[in-house]
Amino acid sequence: MSVAAQAAAAPSKTILRALAGEALPTPPIWMMRQAGRYLPEYRATRVQAGDFLSLCYNPELAAEVTLQPIRRYGFDGAILFADILLVPQALGADLWFVTGEGPRLSTITDRSGVDALKTVDAIHDTLSPIYETVKILSRELPAETTLIGFAGAPWTVATYMIAGRGTPDQGPAHAMREGEPEAFDALIDRITEATIEYLSMQIEAGAEVVKIFDSWAGSLKGDAFRRYALEPAKRITAALNDRHPGIPVIAFPREAGEGYIGFARATGADCVALDNSVSPDWAAEHVQVDGCVQGNLASKHMVTGGQALIDETRAIVRAFRKGPHIFNLGHGIPPDADPENVALMIETVRGCRD
Ligand code: CP3
Repeated sequence: MSVAAQAAAAPSKTILRALAGEALPTPPIWMMRQAGRYLPEYRATRVQAGDFLSLCYNPELAAEVTLQPIRRYGFDGAILFADILLVPQALGADLWFVTGEGPRLSTITDRSGVDALKTVDAIHDTLSPIYETVKILSRELPAETTLIGFAGAPWTVATYMIAGRGTPDQGPAHAMREGEPEAFDALIDRITEATIEYLSMQIEAGAEVVKIFDSWAGSLKGDAFRRYALEPAKRITAALNDRHPGIPVIAFPREAGEGYIGFARATGADCVALDNSVSPDWAAEHVQVDGCVQGNLASKHMVTGGQALIDETRAIVRAFRKGPHIFNLGHGIPPDADPENVALMIETVRGCRD
């Protein structure tokens, strides 16, 4: 490639540069759940939409809430506003949200439940408004802001489809994995295929990066971690790389602990997102050696603020500064966070050049 062609091919947006392996003097920033209930403007738009799912399926309003934190804070990345549980719904599960409690779904307990799901081709009937949201965002976002699409990882999505709700230990999913391995594998396969199609459509609509959320990866150990966290992430990443070369993938095997080591190499992901149960110094040594990392400030600092927020933020920036890093929280920002603390975090990261 000529120098001019290389320069033309090199990304200019900071998040894409970090994902391509560049160590930047100031890490780019975005935040999981950055469009959410801690923001009064989000709460107002949610009322206008009626309820959470109506907001997800309304492209104009979903784009509006995605843009709100960009306008307020100037984050370097915008994450599509949607939910990981829209894929089960598109596959035919009933889905509703109970205020103050969380999601509820119809349950899958055996092979007949898996066989009753819709085919992967059918998911776009339900999910097409989401692609429309992505299209609006790719037109309306500032030129320097990276548009991030996402989906849940098969294991995490399966835990909700099997139990019909969030569970503290993912017991029902583990029971099906052990008791009905064939049905369980068929479910993981169906979700994996649907996820590939869903993310592929987000990319075609304008997503520049995709992130795979495996919130419950930490409850898989040993061979089960390899089969149900690592392998599906690898399959999804390979299929997307094949169809959409150059679109980076961020994997988030939350609470994987030592499972973070080598995860990017083994799956082909361009970046591993870290929760805050691992120290930044440990992760710089063991995980960042393979490429870009994202994270990992404890979300509670968005509630408590003060000097502890400043000290922790600086420690994270310093620990990761020799390699590619995207600053983020270790998990979503809580609804009782103070919007002023988000501003303080951003100011601290951007003022941290010494
Ligand atoms: O990060 C973002 O801002 C993008 C949008 C997004 C949402 N959920 C919006 C949302 C993303 C990426 C998700 C991912 C998601 N959803 C995960 C994986 C990440 C994680 O948090 O572990 C999971 C497990 C879900 C399922 C889900 N959705 C739960 C368990 C809940 C209820 C918990 C809660 O916070 O109330 C949701 C609802 C949800 N998804 C909200 C938002 C902004 C709150 C809905 C509201 O407005 O009441």
